[in-house]
Amino acid sequence: MAQDAREPGKQELPTEEELTRAGLRLAVEGAVARITISRPERRNAMTGRTWTTLAHIGQALPGDVRIVVIAGEGDIFSAGIDLNMFTPEGVDGERSIVAGLADGSSDEADLDAYISELQQGFLWLRRPDLVTIAAVRGHAIGAGFQLALACDLRILADDAKFCMKEPALGLVPDLTGTKPLVDIVGVHRATEICLTARKVGAEESRELGLATLVVGVDELEGAVDDAVAGLLATNPDAAVATKALLQQAAGNTLQEQCAAERKAQVGRLTALAKAMAPDA
Ligand code: ACO
Repeated sequence: MAQDAREPGKQELPTEEELTRAGLRLAVEGAVARITISRPERRNAMTGRTWTTLAHIGQALPGDVRIVVIAGEGDIFSAGIDLNMFTPEGVDGERSIVAGLADGSSDEADLDAYISELQQGFLWLRRPDLVTIAAVRGHAIGAGFQLALACDLRILADDAKFCMKEPALGLVPDLTGTKPLVDIVGVHRATEICLTARKVGAEESRELGLATLVVGVDELEGAVDDAVAGLLATNPDAAVATKALLQQAAGNTLQEQCAAERKAQVGRLTALAKAMAPDA
């Protein structure tokens, strides 16, 4: 499962060439990794390679990275999947999603496995050892919206627009976005947002809880930096344990959650006591 902790040093980060082919840029500085979706000529539309490379980044991030920030190049987060993925030609040597089914060279099980592989690019962003932030300017459509939903925090510029376009194209959202959407806005509002495929602006996103924060376009970078600084000020081990605890809460009964709190706290107190011991 992609939420497993990374195994630092086991895998090299993607090369510059691999990142460029995937439409991504990556900068890792100490505890912060910044990923930029960068295909401005296609409005930062993403391909299968974008998502398999995102998964690769997640597996290979150095062990001291605690925060991941995802943004789009320029004035848009992402126009979603590159629509050429649905043409028989596909994109730049990547498999076409429909061609194999049309000519019989792939079957439903094959496609299921392929989508599962693509979902890995989104799943790792939930890992408790990381806090992930989507910094959203302009449109975040379809897969772009789902990528923002995979993050823990969404910091929006006031020109941001979310849109779950998939049903309007005859598809369903399948890149891990339906669960966080329902968790945040509830099934009724999620149904309305998805089945109308309408654009949800920044202010409404804030009211619905989709946006952690909305700021002016020129303030986005500073707001993200402030959030990063605030998150880094927290004890790293407590942060990991707390995110893991919060993630369990919705699926647990009160009693189960109380037990999980006790277990996590015993672990924390034991570690703190060990650190305070005279011979530590
Ligand atoms: N896939 C491939 N190319 C795209 C995509 C896309 N998703 N989105 C934009 N482009 C290309 C356009 O074809 C155009 O190319 P051209 O210059 O060769 O003609 C270029 O990017 C600029 O696009 P414009 O539409 O001119 O840009 P504008 O700023 O006016 O609009 C917007 C941006 C709103 C994002 C619009 O391009 C759009 O609606 N794109 C399609 C969104 C979409 O349906 N995505 C799929 C959702 S489903 C999913 O993600 C699973």
